Amino acid sequence: MRFANKIVLVVGGNSGIGLSAAQGFAAEGATVVITGRDQATLDAAVAGMADATAHRADVADPASLDPVIAAVREAHGRIDVLFVNAGIGAFAPVREVTPELWDQVHDVNLRGCFFAVQKALPLIGRGGSIVITGSIGAVLGVPGNAIYAAAKAGLRAVARILATELVGEGIRVNVVSPGPTETPIIHRNVGMDAAAVDSLRQVMIAAVPMKRMGEPSEIARAVLFLASDEASFITGVDLFVDGGCVEL
Ligand SMILES: NC(=O)c1ccc[n+]([C@@H]2O[C@H](COP(=O)([O-])OP(=O)(O)OC[C@H]3O[C@@H](n4cnc5c(N)ncnc54)[C@H](OP(=O)(O)O)[C@@H]3O)[C@@H](O)[C@H]2O)c1
Repeated sequence: MRFANKIVLVVGGNSGIGLSAAQGFAAEGATVVITGRDQATLDAAVAGMADATAHRADVADPASLDPVIAAVREAHGRIDVLFVNAGIGAFAPVREVTPELWDQVHDVNLRGCFFAVQKALPLIGRGGSIVITGSIGAVLGVPGNAIYAAAKAGLRAVARILATELVGEGIRVNVVSPGPTETPIIHRNVGMDAAAVDSLRQVMIAAVPMKRMGEPSEIARAVLFLASDEASFITGVDLFVDGGCVEL
């Protein structure tokens, strides 16, 4: 029960890694607030947790988070753990990258995640913990991954700055960078049909030293660790949870 009496906000908590983390926080006693865009999965997610509420908000529109933060302030008065996890994928070789696709991904994965932290900050006090979902893509030369890699590398850089600016306030900031993980995101990659997704999946598995995809719960456990007081002397790290992809 590492999160008993804790208020946890998960930005992007209705699917995949974010949902698994939200469920983990709830199972360990937290009061959980989740966001996402899809009302059906938001509703289904809160129905399965003991003490949870959900709000629709699109991080690509930072102002849409204002009512969410106001509601958390009204109901709970503070945020102990902020998990900023919202993200979308996109693969495109350099010659096919358009400004529109670049902006679509960066508006969520970089700009949106930055402003989600900024908007939640007034409710986070000493002892607070922020965890941000990065990606091993930020540090690997994967063909076709320029847009996504740039956004996640930028987000990792932002996290380091946040950690530096907030360390004096007793707020820790860390990144969890998943390797290939079995979640709906790979089926949502802009512009890929089912066959292309399946071949991408096989390529990803072949590249993992453990020769398998990760499960959302395996990523979520690292998120919960960094969010918890068990990680009280850890800030600014980028924890790869990737079956050995980056280091082996
Ligand atoms: N799965 C992998 O292999 C992998 C690897 C490395 C990193 N990651 C990162 O892990 C994070 C979670 O992804 P996942 O794999 O669990 O995929 P997922 O199941 O598709 O989850 C993505 C989450 O982000 C939310 N989201 C997306 N766009 C949003 C927006 N504009 N505003 C608000 N919420 C938004 C989604 O909710 P709605 O759709 O309802 O908005 C959902 O909750 C992402 O940041 C992703 O880049 C995943």
